[in-house]
Amino acid sequence: MTDRDPVPPPSHLTVPDPAAMRKQYRAEGLDESELAGHPMAQFERWFRQAAAEGAVFEPNAMVVSTADASGRPSSRTVLMKAYDERGFVFYTNYGSRKARDLAENPYVSLLFPWHAIARQVIVSGTARRTGRDETAAYFRTRPHGSQLGAWASEQSSVIHSRAQLDLVYEDLHGRYPEGEQVPVPPNWGGFRIAPRTVEFWQGRQNRLHDRLRYVAEPDGSWRVERLSP
Ligand SMILES: Cc1cc2nc3c(=O)[nH]c(=O)nc-3n(C[C@H](O)[C@H](O)[C@H](O)COP(=O)(O)O)c2cc1C
Repeated sequence: MTDRDPVPPPSHLTVPDPAAMRKQYRAEGLDESELAGHPMAQFERWFRQAAAEGAVFEPNAMVVSTADASGRPSSRTVLMKAYDERGFVFYTNYGSRKARDLAENPYVSLLFPWHAIARQVIVSGTARRTGRDETAAYFRTRPHGSQLGAWASEQSSVIHSRAQLDLVYEDLHGRYPEGEQVPVPPNWGGFRIAPRTVEFWQGRQNRLHDRLRYVAEPDGSWRVERLSP
């Protein structure tokens, strides 16, 4: 083999073949008759189950997909920090790529990937910034180090090195030592995603999964439809 030979295909002895990976999902299903009347109440039930006994690692981790004004999508994981009948909240930097996308185009898709229990929840909706009071109340619950981290990071911008980031953090640590109140960064805060549709996906045997989707009606009520798997 010379230096110019292409990289050989991975050996199946050492590298798992994704095409051969198949799991049979659970026999128990999700039936219209057992659904809550409101999708956020149904979400609460599933969230409790995902969180129970550590069934899912970080069940509040969700993939947020945004698109810019020209429709180019991007996705990333964030931590959902609150939910109620108004929707789902996460916190981020308002200068980040996702926040810039949302300023141009408020439409969002959220995905909770609860693979360990063969479930996913998929939300589409629109994002609005949380109020400064709500943001401040949450910021104060964060550990001191995370509060400083929110100041230190100009999220999504290109930086020269890790050392540059660490230096900024150390400087902030000098200004706000442990125990000192850290102000809320002006460019940091929450987004609340008000759902328009919420799909509850339950893996079943033979790929005949259950998919029940709540759709918001103009009068504020919710219609449920079943989707083909
Ligand atoms: C498990 C996990 C949780 C994360 N939680 C957050 C979060 O709550 N807020 C956030 O801004 N970024 C979070 N991140 C980092 C984002 O995935 C992403 O790198 C960052 O927000 C910048 O995204 P953007 O450049 O697309 O805006 C998390 C990443 C992982 C893997």
